[in-house]
Amino acid sequence: MVIEKICCIGAGYVGGPTCSVIALKCPEVKVTVVDKNKERIKQWNADKLPIYEPGLDKVVKECRGKNLFFSVDVESAIEEADLIFISVNTPTKTCGNGKGRAADLKYVESVARLIADVAAGDKIVVEKSTVPVKAAESIMNILRANQKPGVSYQILSNPEFLSEGTAIDNLLNADRVLIGGEETKEGQLAIEKLCWIYEHWIPRSKILTTNTWSSELSKLAANAFLAQRISSINSLSAVCEFTGANVSEVAKAIGTDTRIGNKFLNASVGFGGSCFQKDILNLVYICECLNLPEVAAYWQQVIDINEYQKSRFTSKVIESLFNTVTDKRISILGFAFKKDTGDTRESPAIYVAKTLLDEGAKLNIYDPKVEHAQIFEDLTYATGSKEYVKERVSLFPNAYSATEKTHAIVVCTEWDEFITLDFRKIYDGMMKPAYIFDGRMILDDEKLSKIGFHVHTIGKRNMRRGLKRTWGTLDCA
Ligand code: UDX
Ligand code: UDX
Ligand code: ADP
Repeated sequence: MVIEKICCIGAGYVGGPTCSVIALKCPEVKVTVVDKNKERIKQWNADKLPIYEPGLDKVVKECRGKNLFFSVDVESAIEEADLIFISVNTPTKTCGNGKGRAADLKYVESVARLIADVAAGDKIVVEKSTVPVKAAESIMNILRANQKPGVSYQILSNPEFLSEGTAIDNLLNADRVLIGGEETKEGQLAIEKLCWIYEHWIPRSKILTTNTWSSELSKLAANAFLAQRISSINSLSAVCEFTGANVSEVAKAIGTDTRIGNKFLNASVGFGGSCFQKDILNLVYICECLNLPEVAAYWQQVIDINEYQKSRFTSKVIESLFNTVTDKRISILGFAFKKDTGDTRESPAIYVAKTLLDEGAKLNIYDPKVEHAQIFEDLTYATGSKEYVKERVSLFPNAYSATEKTHAIVVCTEWDEFITLDFRKIYDGMMKPAYIFDGRMILDDEKLSKIGFHVHTIGKRNMRRGLKRTWGTLDCA
């Protein structure tokens, strides 16, 4: 097969790791990752990469300068490539038709126009970003309307299923690779060429080929199903907190049914990340456009429960602290949307922090990987006031300093290092009564309770000492 050169447009969380692994596994293929963001490319060429992803450093260092290149010269990379991945960002639209729900395709469209401008030979263009059903058709329309003589295009959909924090493992040991293309001879040939790349390390039986629409819809559906499981278990966590059932026990009991399976059943403060909310909103929007309001309402509920969970958790913090957090100092442990990543996109910690700030709290924040500038940027965007954030939020280099003299600890991310903290030492340094709100179910609530903490864990009956919760009313025991 004859893919000699690959270009990937967009050096982000998707394009960077994916193409690094392709370069590792296909040493005879030249892979060039390009981005219009000069700073980002500079970082990809430096020692400290622009994203934190376990195992990524090693792969990049092994291939960079051999068959893996990072560049801002988008045109040249397009010109020489046989196959082009489009992995630019597809945020939710912030204005106009479909505002707040539809995917904004402006970056995808501008890349398609650039390819049409620059391409001088045959190109396989692979849609790698999450884009709504029919996006490949839009790319094709742009390319074919601007097609020059002697140039032909095939558009494939090859959605990414990697999950941040485990991206390299997901890429190396993929459950499946999905490739959608046109049901024509040329379309099938293009699919075969992309299959050839993946077959360097993925068994053929795990490479699924479909028509373009199935591939595009499967990506949205997969994320919607995963998020739905989290909203389902989170909705039950609320029932558990009132009844005395334990959500971890319930999850285990449900998950051992092989028809259900045991993954993605961890109750939490809510799901975050760049994909789940965006993709479901997109699915909802598509359903509405297709005049399927019942289907739209069904999936919207997954988002609504997520909002409910974040708000329920934060209200619990405020209520427990005698219904006022004004001028109380509260520590937030974890700001990333999940462990093992420095990414904060749609992180539930942003909602929690913003709501506590709105209520007048002062915050001490610690996260092992998130850049301090990112935390300030997220909170400034959420609250609308840089000055307020600067005045009220302090960032710390470790959990011990972040918790000192605070009234409460709120765990928003399940970082492993939080599990093994010396909570006796932390308790001694805190204001009393000292509270812990575990939004990730990672801490030993009984042990913490014995130390003296008032503990609230998602999905478990309140461990507040001396108080017993019964069906929505607080009775003194
Ligand atoms: C169900 C549960 O499976 C069982 O564990 C519980 O104890 C009792 O309820 P049952 O109702 O006997 O068992 O059958 P099940 O195989 O679960 O099917 C229920 C319905 O769902 C049927 O109408 C079936 O046709 C339908 N179904 C099932 C689908 O439409 N699609 C599927 O993929 C599976
Ligand atoms: C997700 C999909 O898993 C991936 O296949 C897709 O390509 C991109 O979107 P990602 O967002 O990186 O990946 O992380 P994921 O592990 O799916 O977690 C998403 C959110 O759900 C996180 O905030 C996580 O903490 C939360 N989560 C996950 C739970 O609250 N409970 C769980 O059981 C699992
Ligand atoms: P994802 O999580 O989908 O990878 P990111 O935001 O991390 O999203 O990465 C997308 C990248 O695409 C960004 O670095 C952005 O600069 C880049 N990008 C967007 N539009 C273009 C474009 N027209 N040309 C080159 N790069 C682009």
